[in-house]
Amino acid sequence: MNGHEGARPPAGKREAVARVRIALAGAEEATTLAAVHRAAFGDKGWSAAAVRRMLAIEGTEALLARCDDTSACGMIITRLMWEDGEILTLGVRPEYRRLGIGGRLFASAVNGMVMQGANRVFLEVAETNAAAIALYEAAGFEVMGRRPGYYLEEDGRRVNALMMVRVFGQGCGG
Ligand SMILES: CC(C)(COP(=O)(O)OP(=O)(O)OC[C@H]1O[C@@H](n2cnc3c(N)ncnc32)[C@H](O)[C@@H]1OP(=O)(O)O)[C@@H](O)C(=O)NCCC(=O)NCCS
Repeated sequence: MNGHEGARPPAGKREAVARVRIALAGAEEATTLAAVHRAAFGDKGWSAAAVRRMLAIEGTEALLARCDDTSACGMIITRLMWEDGEILTLGVRPEYRRLGIGGRLFASAVNGMVMQGANRVFLEVAETNAAAIALYEAAGFEVMGRRPGYYLEEDGRRVNALMMVRVFGQGCGG
């Protein structure tokens, strides 16, 4: 699968973004979420069963971005535990990138967790992933640490993970 099947390239940047609809996606949409994830991440993409298992854990939510009303072009999965939110994954189909979809998904998910009480939102990203790091920095996230050799690349190389955070408020201190 090359991740391009069934997705039409956008006619134009402004039109494509105007058509994007972002909505919560439950376990019944695991197949669609997994298809977008595999299109975005290639061989590292998740199966529908893996997405279903993830969504079964309390505090986990998925958002799907739909372009052209029906075709799913982006996805994000988050987990909220008490006052800490986490971005578990974010992906946009290659042919729909640089149209603002990833940024909108990310902002919707982060805002959703903050509305539900998150004071901090965390994420991990490969330090070679310039696109994602630029998106997160533009959204106000900062590097708080590194996990050496956290990711294993297809060619066997190890890549460091950056741990990033954005703090939204103070807990009650209790
Ligand atoms: C990272 C990803 C989700 C971005 O999605 P996207 O829809 O293309 O992102 P947006 O169009 O909303 O971009 C928002 C901002 O992020 C930054 N950005 C996104 N792609 C970039 C790139 N290739 N190079 C540099 N900056 C980039 C820019 O600041 C951009 O704003 P601008 O277009 O006004 O300059 C997408 O590239 C993707 O799915 N990558 C593969 C999966 C992945 O790496 N996920 C993140 C794992 S932690």
